[in-house]
Amino acid sequence: MRSDGRKNDELRKIEAKVGVISSADGSAYFKIGNTAVVAAVYGPRELHPKHLQDPEKSVLRCYYNMTTFSVPERKSPSPGRREIELSTAIKRALEPTIFIEEFPRTAIDVYTYVLEADAGTRCASICAASMALADAGIPMRDLVSAVAAGKVKDQIVLDLTKEEEDTEPCTDVPIAYMPNKKWITLIQLDGEVTAEELREIIKLGIKGCLQIYEIQKKALKKKYVRI
Ligand code: CDP
Repeated sequence: MRSDGRKNDELRKIEAKVGVISSADGSAYFKIGNTAVVAAVYGPRELHPKHLQDPEKSVLRCYYNMTTFSVPERKSPSPGRREIELSTAIKRALEPTIFIEEFPRTAIDVYTYVLEADAGTRCASICAASMALADAGIPMRDLVSAVAAGKVKDQIVLDLTKEEEDTEPCTDVPIAYMPNKKWITLIQLDGEVTAEELREIIKLGIKGCLQIYEIQKKALKKKYVRI
């Protein structure tokens, strides 16, 4: 039993909603446990300055940030090395799903802001961003679902909290997944595990992504499908 009472293969409680920012072309809110993210998408829109344009495809730009109040110790609002790295990871996780070649010379801007952080913010950002991209009507191969799995002491667990991440030893593996295509679009590993353990962690992460996928689809249908 984990300290928050979950089983090893259990996700935290999830809330998901699209269309939360009226001025954006697409937007979404995604909360998993005490990690909450809002995402806004603008585009495809003409990219300026022109020398940044790609005549073959749209340029996907992702901006990850944390609000100053999202963590116990005030987070500086300016993006540091961590934010730049996570923005790149989020871009890599999302790019395979978008038909960027359909929109040459444009930019698609994806902003994710962490409102509350209790680990797993890059995965929550990917979940929110892919829902916001769909809400913006951008042609996509699939949604991207993401969650971390890992090993805390000797237990393989899904969806780690900050408390679990801070336990020694701990290995954290964020995974982003496109269920339709069965493509893993992001996998990172922080810590040490055997090849066999890593296989088990990936399997568990994908199982979590599939559950998140259903919640993302339900949130989108809630806005667009009249039942
Ligand atoms: O959030 P994620 O697990 O994707 O990335 P991380 O860099 O491994 O950060 C893990 C957690 O550390 C965050 O989710 C926050 O809870 C916490 N953190 C913090 O307390 N203060 C920061 N300046 C950055 C992260």
